[in-house]
Amino acid sequence: MAPAMHLAFIALFLTGATAYTNHTVGGKSGWLFDPNTNTSSADYASWTANQTFDLGDYLIFNTNTNQTVILTYNETTFRSCSVDNSSDSDTFNYGQGSQQFGQPLTVAVPLTIEGPNYFFSDASDGIQCENGLAFGINVTHGAGLPPYLSQPPPPPYVDPPSNADGSVTPTVTNVPSGAGLGGDANVRWAVCYALTLCGIFGLF
Ligand SMILES: *[C@@H]1O[C@H](CO)[C@@H](O)[C@H](O)[C@H]1NC(C)=O
Ligand SMILES: *[C@@H]1O[C@H](CO)[C@@H](O)[C@H](O)[C@H]1NC(C)=O
Ligand SMILES: *[C@@H]1O[C@H](CO)[C@@H](O)[C@H](O)[C@H]1NC(C)=O
Ligand SMILES: *[C@@H]1O[C@H](CO)[C@@H](O)[C@H](O)[C@H]1NC(C)=O
Ligand SMILES: *[C@@H]1O[C@H](CO)[C@@H](O)[C@H](O)[C@H]1NC(C)=O
Ligand SMILES: *[C@@H]1O[C@H](CO)[C@@H](O)[C@H](O)[C@H]1NC(C)=O
Ligand SMILES: *[C@@H]1O[C@H](CO)[C@@H](O)[C@H](O)[C@H]1NC(C)=O
Repeated sequence: MAPAMHLAFIALFLTGATAYTNHTVGGKSGWLFDPNTNTSSADYASWTANQTFDLGDYLIFNTNTNQTVILTYNETTFRSCSVDNSSDSDTFNYGQGSQQFGQPLTVAVPLTIEGPNYFFSDASDGIQCENGLAFGINVTHGAGLPPYLSQPPPPPYVDPPSNADGSVTPTVTNVPSGAGLGGDANVRWAVCYALTLCGIFGLF
């Protein structure tokens, strides 16, 4: 093959390997609620409508501490706009920490489980959620969970996971098996491909 072909394959591989998307929730409008009008800053159903959400993608919530970010896999919890009867195993509160109102907050939530994922704010006793600060998405397999997310960190959420040093204990048990293996295989393939290529170009 001509070198150009190899470069094209490498480009293909690299884009394939890093094809995870960060979705900014609500676009420029963010994740906010106006208590004076009882309205959310965006229509989240239409925001989700024409997007694909894959394993390994992140949802980025640009908000402040007047709203919360709850992820649940339980539709009953979602419909109730409350975590009162929820279970620690299927409902997670991201972006805890501040006791002060109105502090700017950016919350990054990795998508680690395929199928229905529901998000809502449980602030103001559910009023925010009941008035639009809520949405559901269907997470699809895509390229699969990357190795650095194959053991999601437990709540309370502090920072986006930056390494896989084994210091975090997974509490989400539902992670599709084999997702991590797929990632490793990709890495092995990349190394193998790079070695072959270097051999062809006489670098070794
Ligand atoms: C997506 O968000 C995560 C979590 O904040 C961050 O680590 C990563 O660098 C972001 N990726 C891109 C392409 O912006
Ligand atoms: C917002 O909604 C709540 C409950 O639905 C209601 O009690 C409150 O009066 C409403 N506030 C405004 C400004 O409409
Ligand atoms: C999604 O829909 C919105 C509004 O309908 C539109 O502005 C936006 O360009 C669409 N995005 C894509 C990727 O199609
Ligand atoms: C979902 O949550 C509700 C409480 O919100 C609970 O009663 C129910 O058992 C949960 N469902 C599952 C499948 O865990
Ligand atoms: C939680 O469960 C109790 C007892 O079943 C029920 O009365 C209450 O309405 C539930 N709360 C929510 C938010 O679903
Ligand atoms: C947050 O809520 C507090 C209390 O309701 C209110 O005084 C403040 O203006 C809000 N801040 C923002 C940025 O919405
Ligand atoms: C989610 O997407 C998958 C793959 O497209 C599909 O098979 C499944 O029925 C969808 N689930 C829901 C709840 O929409």
